[in-house]
Amino acid sequence: MTPDDPNPGESLETLDWGPAPESDEAARQWIQRSGEQPAHFIGGAWFAPDGAKRFASRCPATGETLRDVLQGSTDDVDRAVQAARAALPAWQELGPEGRARCLYAIARSIQKQSRLFAVIETLDNGKPIRETRDLDIPLVVRHFYHHAGSAHLLDETDPGAEPWGVCGQVIPWNFPMLMLAWKVAPALACGNTVVLKPAEWTSLSALLFGEICQKAGLPAGVLNIVTGDGDTGAAIVSHPDIDKVAFTGSTEVGRIIRKATAGSGKGLTLELGGKSPYIIFEDADIDSAVEGLVDAIWFNQGQVCCAGSRMLVQESISEDVHRKVVERMSRLRVGNPLDKAIDIGAMVEKQHLDQVEAMCERAISEGLECIQPDIELPQQGYWFPPTLFKDAPLASEIASEEVFGPVLVSTTFRTPQEAVKIANHSRYGLAASIWSQDIDTALDVARKVEAGTVWVNGTNLFDASSGFGGMKESGFGREGGREGLRAYLRDVKPMSPNEDTDANTTELVDAQDAVGSLDRTAKLYIGGKQVRPDGGYSFEVQTPGGELIGLAARSNRKDVRNAVEAASRSGWSAMNGHARAQVLWFIAENMEPRRDELAQLIDQMTGCGSTEAQQEVDESVSRWTWWASWADKHDGAVHDTPWRGLVLAVHEPFGTAGLICPQQKPLLGLVALSAPLLATGNCVIAVPSTAALAAVEMCRIIEHSDLPAGALNLLTGDASEIGEVIAAHDDVDLLWHVSDDLLASQLESAAAGNMKVCWRPGSLSDRSRRMMDRGAQVKNIWLPHGI
Ligand code: NAI
Repeated sequence: MTPDDPNPGESLETLDWGPAPESDEAARQWIQRSGEQPAHFIGGAWFAPDGAKRFASRCPATGETLRDVLQGSTDDVDRAVQAARAALPAWQELGPEGRARCLYAIARSIQKQSRLFAVIETLDNGKPIRETRDLDIPLVVRHFYHHAGSAHLLDETDPGAEPWGVCGQVIPWNFPMLMLAWKVAPALACGNTVVLKPAEWTSLSALLFGEICQKAGLPAGVLNIVTGDGDTGAAIVSHPDIDKVAFTGSTEVGRIIRKATAGSGKGLTLELGGKSPYIIFEDADIDSAVEGLVDAIWFNQGQVCCAGSRMLVQESISEDVHRKVVERMSRLRVGNPLDKAIDIGAMVEKQHLDQVEAMCERAISEGLECIQPDIELPQQGYWFPPTLFKDAPLASEIASEEVFGPVLVSTTFRTPQEAVKIANHSRYGLAASIWSQDIDTALDVARKVEAGTVWVNGTNLFDASSGFGGMKESGFGREGGREGLRAYLRDVKPMSPNEDTDANTTELVDAQDAVGSLDRTAKLYIGGKQVRPDGGYSFEVQTPGGELIGLAARSNRKDVRNAVEAASRSGWSAMNGHARAQVLWFIAENMEPRRDELAQLIDQMTGCGSTEAQQEVDESVSRWTWWASWADKHDGAVHDTPWRGLVLAVHEPFGTAGLICPQQKPLLGLVALSAPLLATGNCVIAVPSTAALAAVEMCRIIEHSDLPAGALNLLTGDASEIGEVIAAHDDVDLLWHVSDDLLASQLESAAAGNMKVCWRPGSLSDRSRRMMDRGAQVKNIWLPHGI
């Protein structure tokens, strides 16, 4: 358009962006120099073993090889772990302030080199420079600054807490530097040392980061970087001298890692896949919602774990929204990611592009409507256009599986209830966006969707102060925020399941021949009632001298199923803390008059003597009141972020918790662990000690308290038999287990099915807030506001 243009209106219609390429000269110089001798970063120096295997790191926008990267071997991993172990004492002695200074120096150095980082990231990953420059790298810097502060304040915020030790961290290719920052910054802040493996397709920014750390004066061995593929990752995860594993990537690999670490006692956080709902209500600001959608699904070519890849639109506005979305899709610019006016860059690798294409082709062959704008894609490199599958059936692969590409599916809903139902119809639970101008609808739905992060009238907002992580098969643990920091502090030492043997002794004496025809079997407690076990079998409960005291029911798989169903119907999780507190107080009140009877049973079963038995009952009563007191006080937080708005960190119960109790303290062992779980709003399916009569008796008392039917269920029997059934059950969301290493390994492996969180409690005398933290998951609700 020129000043003397005869028809300026028409020119405005056709006006297009000119190219605005970012220079890649400095980045290419660094890539060439650093690629001359590819190496790992181990013990503060660059290390390349003789004859090491190499592979190419490519530029997805052109397909050209940028430089070679080493394939880390198990020896390389071992060397890195040794370096990290050796560096640990001095790093811890440096103390919070010393570590804070190091992290601050790293933050400053990245900030100074931020453009170089952004360009390298764009070259190596294919994502638009607009994103690496304006989002990825600034967030990386923010993360290191924030955690420099967290390091400094550690003695104040978490007095006495210890770091895990050596952390093994495996990260994906979609946000190479940001994922590094999310993992390295909190680990170092807490006094851990690190062995990190970047993703094989995008290792370059991590190697530049190694250089930065060297120059910033990070002590040798505190950070070690070993490049390589999944085999290198597996070597890190299974290395016996790694204390904690942190992984971000696919749910499939997350499950492999869950199994590989089962029973090892290693700390574990998993940030996995997602299929996040993007819900637009009829009262939403539609233009903003559509613009937000562009960010939700086409940001980073949709290769984002929390991508808003499922659009749920209220039926009344569906046509309008779809029209606007399709129109907006046609104006997205796909091409050279170094061009600052580009919206969609290249897909990370040919192999990944092929997978996305294949998924879309399958959807088309199923007869689904595929909408793609007529955009010319570059000839070289790996590209995929923005894509929409309109009205995709919920059960179709494209609507239920993570595509990890610029592919949106849409569906409609009529009511908020239906929106929640569809949103939660997924094995994932990473994030959700909700668009509505009505605060009531927005917050109500935000509380009900199963997702670790919920954005109200926004999307893809992240900050170091606010935890990010999933529910359900999107993994567990949070990155960022206080809970993210605490994931890098050593957990309690697991308590032993048995005072005498250190093992789960569950060899039950079959009751068949024991008593005549008289049925004196203590029953199971399921759905608020005493019920006979499905199998009809029972076992003997004896005195320590082997004398028969009574019989207890032996539960089986079907009893577990019934208990899980009863728990899901109980309504306990939906009750507020005040109401829960009253019920727990009432249990204590009802237990007190039965003190002598319970103590007598405990004494008979354990031979501990009447005084100790009475103390156990008293302590159990007191524990009900203690956790009743906590029930309405496990508050969340409001985070302070650089964004305008509020982030509400809300504690939510997991849902149904399995509980494997210790053998010792047959009553307190049940109460000390089930009461905090109930106080946080979880329903409990407990397997008590095989000295089960006191626990059964207590449930008879509970039957006449106001605990809703199904909130607590008692399954007596062999912990190793039914424990595994509970651990594997898809509708059990959390597992606390007091077990020996063998049983722990079986349970934690079985729990990998739905990626339920597992925890081994440290002590029956633990009355700290930590117990409630372990029973709750944090949901971060973002409420951006203002202009
Ligand atoms: P991936 O899960 O295989 O790779 C992530 C990281 O794990 C990489 O560093 C890889 O080398 C490493 N790894 C692979 N196998 C391992 C093992 N057995 N033990 C330890 N580390 C191992 O993901 P990939 O193959 O890159 O992508 C596959 C799919 O995963 C994608 O299509 C996408 O659906 C999903 N994905 C999800 C991510 C997320 O942020 N949630 C990130 C990357 C991928």
